[in-house]
Amino acid sequence: MFEKILLAVDGSEHGLRAAQVAGELARDMKSTELRVVVAYDPIPPYIGDPYMQYAIEARLKDAQTILQSALATVGEVPGELQSELLEGSPAEAIVNVAATRQSDVIVIGSRGLGRLAGALLGSTSQKVISHAPCPVLVVR
Ligand SMILES: Nc1ncnc2c1ncn2[C@@H]1O[C@H](COP(=O)(O)OP(=O)(O)OP(=O)(O)O)[C@@H](O)[C@H]1O
Ligand SMILES: [Mg+2]
Repeated sequence: MFEKILLAVDGSEHGLRAAQVAGELARDMKSTELRVVVAYDPIPPYIGDPYMQYAIEARLKDAQTILQSALATVGEVPGELQSELLEGSPAEAIVNVAATRQSDVIVIGSRGLGRLAGALLGSTSQKVISHAPCPVLVVR
């Protein structure tokens, strides 16, 4: 049923729990693809050289680290394991990738790195639930 799984991670505990669930789902469903997405903030153009290059490299490195920890948590999966690092709004990036790649399910955490204590759902998960082109599995 869920052949193509899209997992979104941001380096948070919830994101890693989502990674664990996505891995289990991929194994249970014998999924053909598990795609991991990490979105990072755009770098404001006014930063200017030479700092621009450092800023880009630092963000990409952070995103890579988040991706690696997610892949380690996902574990072995039967199908293809893909990853995408995208610049821009996380919710938009997740929804766009799900549409482009025709994902069958999006797996996300209920919360992320934000510090708004008390909120049940972070703003990314709220937006993804509202705009996703497919079912969304929210991991608490
Ligand atoms: N930059 C990102 N890239 C990929 N996935 C993300 C990103 N940010 C959040 N997510 C996904 O969305 C889930 C919920 O995070 P969300 O950002 O909604 O919560 P929050 O950080 O606690 O709240 P807020 O960002 O509104 O302060 C995360 O567990 C992760 O699965
Ligand atoms: Mg967040």
